[in-house]
Amino acid sequence: MARFLMITATSGTNFELAEKFTENAVSKGHETDVIDLAEMDLPMFTVARSKSDDAPDISELIEKMTEADAWVIVAPEYNGSMPPTLNNAIAWMSTAMNWQDFRALCTGKPVGLATHSGGGGAHVIMAMRQQFSFIGADVMGRACLSGRDREANPETIDAMIDNLVR
Ligand SMILES: Cc1cc2nc3c(=O)[nH]c(=O)nc-3n(C[C@H](O)[C@H](O)[C@H](O)COP(=O)(O)O)c2cc1C
Repeated sequence: MARFLMITATSGTNFELAEKFTENAVSKGHETDVIDLAEMDLPMFTVARSKSDDAPDISELIEKMTEADAWVIVAPEYNGSMPPTLNNAIAWMSTAMNWQDFRALCTGKPVGLATHSGGGGAHVIMAMRQQFSFIGADVMGRACLSGRDREANPETIDAMIDNLVR
């Protein structure tokens, strides 16, 4: 049994896609949790804000990410890249702890990528692959792409959940 954390960048179709990953993981007896970054509504990261009293408390986010054995990141494509909620959350995390702890949190973490985007979603998958590889995660080759004209493939979700478990 593993502990999965689904991290969704938005609260609409991508949240629904995160729920499909949750259902699959739960059906296999895994523990799951979900974080909706849009719902968290973090202020925009700036260095000045990060050093001020306005810096948000993201200790719960860090705790959940630390406790999880694997992350599934679910995000829509925005202008050929990642939505700001995701990039913003990573910036806050990378400064809320010292860089050694941040590297330790991310290094070797099994990560699956998924999207529900207006078009194909290939660009956001590439952007997330680059971002999560850079911070040290072990990003799975297979990804789940869906959109207006393309349902998420249940076999892909099934295989991703199975292969994220070590
Ligand atoms: C600011 C913005 C930029 C977008 N850019 C793209 C894009 O580059 N490619 C794409 O396929 N869809 C794009 N979309 C469409 C979203 O990916 C699509 O509506 C997605 O399903 C929204 O996810 P949600 O329902 O979880 O909010 C964009 C949407 C917004 C709001």
